[in-house]
Amino acid sequence: MKVSFKVRREIPGQAAPSYQTYQLEVERGTTVLDALNRIKWEQDGTLAFRKNCRNAICGSCTMRINGRAALACACHVEDETARGEVLVQPMGNMPVIKDLVVDMSSFWKHLDQIDPYISTAARNIPAREFLQTPEQRAKLEQAGNCILCGACYSECNSREVNPNFVGPHALAKAYRMVADNRDERTSERLQQYNEPGYAWSCTRCFYCNEVCPTGVQPLDQIQKIRQALLAKEDLPINTAIRHRKALIKQIKESGWLDEVKFALEVFGHTPRGLLGLLPLGIRMTLKGKTPLGHQPIENRAEVTHLVDAVNKTEHANHI
Ligand code: SF4
Ligand code: SF4
Ligand code: FES
Repeated sequence: MKVSFKVRREIPGQAAPSYQTYQLEVERGTTVLDALNRIKWEQDGTLAFRKNCRNAICGSCTMRINGRAALACACHVEDETARGEVLVQPMGNMPVIKDLVVDMSSFWKHLDQIDPYISTAARNIPAREFLQTPEQRAKLEQAGNCILCGACYSECNSREVNPNFVGPHALAKAYRMVADNRDERTSERLQQYNEPGYAWSCTRCFYCNEVCPTGVQPLDQIQKIRQALLAKEDLPINTAIRHRKALIKQIKESGWLDEVKFALEVFGHTPRGLLGLLPLGIRMTLKGKTPLGHQPIENRAEVTHLVDAVNKTEHANHI
């Protein structure tokens, strides 16, 4: 099968990014990484990309293939030719060093920021090892499957607009730390992850779950951290927690959202917050969006039951 590979080329500071198309005769079962290797060896030795294991283990070969981040060694060319050619680009959210190679410094810095090491400093180290039950170990498995490939970070919408957001890979690891019964810093960790830039800064776009090649499901791990934060009584109540609690309370009370009451509960607890709401309140009133009566919906009891059931399940699963 003859396939066109349209590859983004760039050497920052030397020339504007451009696309170069390579034609290649490939057999069934050829991966995108195999194809790039052949392009480099047979047609253009200047093409730069990362690779190592060729077995979807090391996480080195992540790049955007037809617009979404994936491991080049795990993508078969025949699955990527629906649009006639295979578009190959570097990962997003990180600056290009050359062609498909990006500078992952911010990725590593953000991982380091969550303190990804078990802390046993104040414990008496047992003579042999820290034993865990199978149940305690099972809580770490999904997040522990991360191969630090960068695919989730590349596609994260929150990271794109907020350079201080640590990203899905770091938060998946953060949950791995919070859930580990051997770690002694759970309380401090939760205080840290409650700050801006951590668990509440994710917009739940689900893209990290979509692209993760090892089933870590970073968003699911973020949700578990959020549950742990909501269950922790001694944390400072920030806007995100107030928002979440007000939303659940109102849905339980009436089955739908009273936007005026909701805004007051979330932002109206300080004179400054109240003042900040004024312009929006005036605009809403002028548009007729502040009805005086807020009646519960007909089947409110059913909604309340659902909210309680979800709460119960989430609480049972969080750590
Ligand atoms: S769900 Fe959250 S962490 Fe995952 S990609 Fe979207 S914004 Fe980023
Ligand atoms: S969570 Fe998944 S996508 Fe993100 S770095 Fe780890 S393995 Fe890659
Ligand atoms: S080369 Fe190691 S994951 Fe692709």
